[in-house]
Amino acid sequence: MAQTWTPNSWRQKPIQQVPDYPDLAALEAVETRLAKYPPLVFAGEARRLKTALANVAEGRGFLLQGGDCAESFAEHGADTIRDFFRAFLQMAVVLTFGAQQPVVKVGRIAGQFAKPRSSGVEKQGDVTLPSYRGDIINGIEFTEEARVPNPERQIMAYRQSAATLNLLRAFAMGGYANLENVHQWMLGFVKDSPQAERYRKLADRISETMDFMKAIGITSENHPSLRETDFFTSHEALLLGYEQALTRVDSTSGDWYATSGHMIWIGDRTRQPDHAHVEYCRGIKNPLGLKCGPSLTADGLLELVDLLNPANEAGRLTLICRFGHDKVAEHLPRLIRAVEREGKKVVWSCDPMHGNTITLNNYKTRPFERILSEVESFFQIHRAEGTHPGGIHIEMTGNDVTECTGGARALSGDDLADRYHTHCDPRLNADQALELAFLLAERMKGGRDEKKMVVNG
Ligand code: PEP
Ligand code: CO
Repeated sequence: MAQTWTPNSWRQKPIQQVPDYPDLAALEAVETRLAKYPPLVFAGEARRLKTALANVAEGRGFLLQGGDCAESFAEHGADTIRDFFRAFLQMAVVLTFGAQQPVVKVGRIAGQFAKPRSSGVEKQGDVTLPSYRGDIINGIEFTEEARVPNPERQIMAYRQSAATLNLLRAFAMGGYANLENVHQWMLGFVKDSPQAERYRKLADRISETMDFMKAIGITSENHPSLRETDFFTSHEALLLGYEQALTRVDSTSGDWYATSGHMIWIGDRTRQPDHAHVEYCRGIKNPLGLKCGPSLTADGLLELVDLLNPANEAGRLTLICRFGHDKVAEHLPRLIRAVEREGKKVVWSCDPMHGNTITLNNYKTRPFERILSEVESFFQIHRAEGTHPGGIHIEMTGNDVTECTGGARALSGDDLADRYHTHCDPRLNADQALELAFLLAERMKGGRDEKKMVVNG
């Protein structure tokens, strides 16, 4: 029997990845302050996202989730947010066309600050210091002072999230997301890409569709859906004291919601069923993500599915699979079969980033070919199993960084030093992210044509 849940019942459980705050009274004072601050997102919005994800779970939509590995205080500028949003919307348009389904847009943004680490310490030369755990906890500089967890950073992260959300809401509703603009930006990308020929066919077909719509009078002036978009936020719910402080009762339903973001997920390192992170997440009503890595057994997954989604509600749970391009074929089919056998309703999403990290010239990087290969395998496996490949989860930025190798511009190991800005894992740059969308859209369209042939043939 599940025990009674409260926003702080996680404090009775074992916990992984907790920062070592030297001043617990100062931590508590910050949490008390945060608990009085306004919510960042509203329960009704989280419910709307859940409804959209329920459609994805049932095969009628596609989830695009992406953004920074770790947001940082240093990179918090309007241009960075705008450029991310622009690249993300372009991907969404291309994927909508490829999937011929609505694309649910969820950023890893406005709250994605806390990072789980493989090791509690970092060594440089003979110096060993506590690891950097994200700007919400400590500083990235390799000094003893910066690495001390400082609770005041939670207040800064909250304020940055509020400012980011404010801008995103304005972009999403204030005309910036106009489909005509997004389409023009996308054409600009295609024109400049070394792979222009490859992308032109799809781009031309989108142009023709837009012209047709215009000809019959469907414009952004008379159709708000062409100039506005639904955009949601998400992050890993790692720093539970912060999450608890922003957990509020929804006055409409009487239910508890995390108001730090619309969707939150449980990381691959903190998904122990009897531990604190699962305990916290099971009690809130937001849509949840669960990272599924190679060490997750089929029974382990089913136990987590029952804990996190006991009512088997479609849209509640997204399984974010991150196995690695060379392991996905070994692990994904066994998890799909277990979930299918038990009739569990989930969104299957592919994170092709976290299982494909390598070190090259002393930089953590990810080869574009491996990222693409994991997503392709994910699609093929779902087709073979008769299940819906429901989404992708990527680390990306709208900036022209050099963090992942490969792509149309063939970034090499020697290029990594040029513009390697990430605070944690390597991200796709805007060109690589959009290329990924084009390549996926081609595959999705191919998959649909194949299905039609089976039906007709
Ligand atoms: C992440 O998404 O940044 C992350 C740390 O992923 P995972 O928990 O899958 O390793
Ligand atoms: Co990451």
